[in-house]
Amino acid sequence: MRRIAVLTSGGDAPGMNAAIRAVVRTGIDGGAEVFGIRKGYQGLLTGNLFQMGARDVGGIMQRGGTMLGSARCLEFKTEAGRRKGLRTLNQNGIEGLVVIGGNGSQTGSYEISKLGFPVVGVASTIDNDLYGSDITIGVDTALNIALEAVDRLKTTASSHQRAFLIEVMGRDCGYLALMTGIAGGAEAVVIPEYETTPQQVVEIIESAYERGKSHAMIVVAEGAEHDAAELAAYCEENHAKIGFKLRSTTLGHVQRGGDPSAYDRILASRLGLAAAKRLLKGEYGTLTGWIDGSIASTPLDEVVANQKTLDPELIELARILDK
Ligand code: F6P
Repeated sequence: MRRIAVLTSGGDAPGMNAAIRAVVRTGIDGGAEVFGIRKGYQGLLTGNLFQMGARDVGGIMQRGGTMLGSARCLEFKTEAGRRKGLRTLNQNGIEGLVVIGGNGSQTGSYEISKLGFPVVGVASTIDNDLYGSDITIGVDTALNIALEAVDRLKTTASSHQRAFLIEVMGRDCGYLALMTGIAGGAEAVVIPEYETTPQQVVEIIESAYERGKSHAMIVVAEGAEHDAAELAAYCEENHAKIGFKLRSTTLGHVQRGGDPSAYDRILASRLGLAAAKRLLKGEYGTLTGWIDGSIASTPLDEVVANQKTLDPELIELARILDK
């Protein structure tokens, strides 16, 4: 392949820049011209692309976000939109595409590859909900940001003898909340994969109070059936029972911003390099991810057809250790 392109799509994730850098430099090393597409699939529709040299990706690895920009593009979800995108690629002589992103983005990759265009995906989302990669680019950084928040909240919670509900991102997946809870020593985690009722949350806080704890930390995944707002309202109604005063904090997009960790830079560099190499060799229609400690390729149809599940051992770990 002599001419390839790269885009980042969906929610940005710390480490995406390192992946772009790896794709660009690997492509050039393999003798190809590499083009960057701005604003994800949106840029593909509007022909927003430019040729990238090795120097264009200098000094970006340590920066969060994505230097190419990203977008959530509704038009690309239609057949007409995808054909328009394909025209952009063909008109510019692009022979292969690397898509760096999560579930929605790799569904886009699958749809383009079904139209006969060579695509390789790179697993990147802070949610860690993408089948075909044990860990995705951005997770480590987002987790550490959430953990730092829990550590900070614990000190003020203890000083005031309070209970805290901390809502973390993750869309419909409880991975970030679960791992934040384990690493942060939370009294409980509330995740979409396992129902925890508002009554149970009240009981957990009440029990922490009765056992003489100086605080109670409850990490709540944004996708949980009973979200932090509902839980907070219920706890307020039952405040006499729970002992502690209650506060609620939503971390929101703070988790997605900031500089990528060393782990994310290295993971992104390795996945970006592997994806570009595979594309240049003519191996495509797959997601490049990380499975059992190695680079892995999973066919895109498998990626979109399967849902990643949480390791039950981690759920048990959280349950046993939150005593
Ligand atoms: O997929 C990443 C993510 O940050 C989710 O955790 C969250 O639900 C969603 O994106 C937020 O999307 P947006 O940035 O479009 O508000």
